[in-house]
Amino acid sequence: MTFNPLKEKGIPLEKQLRNWHQIVANPYKKQKVDCYTRTRQILMNGIEVEGWGFKHQFNRFMSDIDCKDRANVSRLGRIENQQQMTCNWLCPEDQSVLETTLGYEQVAVDLTAWLAQNEPDKYVKETFDFGLLEDFDHLYRYAQFAYMREGIEPDDIVQEQTYVIVGRPTQHHHNCNGLRLRNHYDKKTASPQTKVNILTVLSGEQQTHNFYAEHGFMYGDHILRETYAEIKDVEEEHVTMYESLIDPSETMFEKLLLHEFTEVCNYYTCLEDEVDEEIKKYWEIFLDIELGHLQVATEIFKKYEKREPEEVIGTEIVIPCRFKSQKAYVQKILEKEVNKRLAPDGKYYNSIEEIPSDWASYPVQERVAEISAPSENCINIVEFYHDRDIVAADENLKNKEATLLEKGLQKKAVAENTVMPDELKNMIKNHEKRKEEKEKII
Ligand SMILES: [Fe+2]
Ligand SMILES: [Fe+2]
Ligand SMILES: [Fe+2]
Ligand SMILES: [Fe+2]
Repeated sequence: MTFNPLKEKGIPLEKQLRNWHQIVANPYKKQKVDCYTRTRQILMNGIEVEGWGFKHQFNRFMSDIDCKDRANVSRLGRIENQQQMTCNWLCPEDQSVLETTLGYEQVAVDLTAWLAQNEPDKYVKETFDFGLLEDFDHLYRYAQFAYMREGIEPDDIVQEQTYVIVGRPTQHHHNCNGLRLRNHYDKKTASPQTKVNILTVLSGEQQTHNFYAEHGFMYGDHILRETYAEIKDVEEEHVTMYESLIDPSETMFEKLLLHEFTEVCNYYTCLEDEVDEEIKKYWEIFLDIELGHLQVATEIFKKYEKREPEEVIGTEIVIPCRFKSQKAYVQKILEKEVNKRLAPDGKYYNSIEEIPSDWASYPVQERVAEISAPSENCINIVEFYHDRDIVAADENLKNKEATLLEKGLQKKAVAENTVMPDELKNMIKNHEKRKEEKEKII
């Protein structure tokens, strides 16, 4: 049996206001939480932030709307705001900023990998694969600081579900804005799955940006602060990239409908997958709330656009956020595409050799890293702590690390403080040698 959200009534809007006790839920225990419960919690916060912000944009930009409808859009925004608090504040006070950060990048890696494999549009899939390898490298860079500052091993957070190792080097993620812009889908022919997939990952990336903006300064370590600044800037590029896939001619009514449909689909998936019985109750209530929102959005859409919502969102639920381990898929894309880069007109260079010497991203990369690349410094300093970088991967992938780095590094616009493949090889060799010596001493 398929689930058609348009046929469900959900909780009516006038019954959706919750009290403070209901809004502020009991946080999960960071020592016990399943890593994919945490990724759902992080993603749904991002989805709600986007849902809330959109209602304000709607009422700021739209004229010729009845007062009653404007008030209802505003009511929707207030409910999104309440849901956002519940989702975000499930995070416990003793989960450090760096621990939460590893959670954010695990969301990006495993969500984007799922979306890429469930994306009917080949071009959109290619863009997901491209973004995937950048967030994959962010996870690796932050994992160095988590170890150095807080003694956290990557698997304490990612629980052996996600590899942590070098990806496309972060210093090469900085691009000319014009190159970040991809080609958009056609709203008349794109499938609802494509539309929901893009809005889902976009919401996640936007919230990741916001989290780094609001938390990167909470550490005194200057190199860590600079790393947050550097990666935050990449998340800004990711917002630019994913939003550019959306057909800009979609109307605000169409967008309202798509936002509510996306929320429905995400909560539906969370409810199906959740292993924490307490948190599952929230996904259930929030799915009903969103079905109520979809009813309101549908009425507004029909009234002003004089067409049927099925034209935009179809008649079936879609699954946008099935969190599960994506190690094999990520490794496949990593080995194949670590050297891929953005080309003009929404195209890609499939290898570093294809990049022309006047590539528009070179001056951007040279400018931001003219003193040094913070994301490289973290590897330089972790050598003092551990003899080599912190990684979490199978032996097979670990053995390929220096080769992956060699393939992913550009020849031009390489920061002065870059850890080169030979240096990495030496670190690894030294680590092995010293490991034996250290063991003997103990
Ligand atoms: Fe919501
Ligand atoms: Fe990231
Ligand atoms: Fe990202
Ligand atoms: Fe909603």
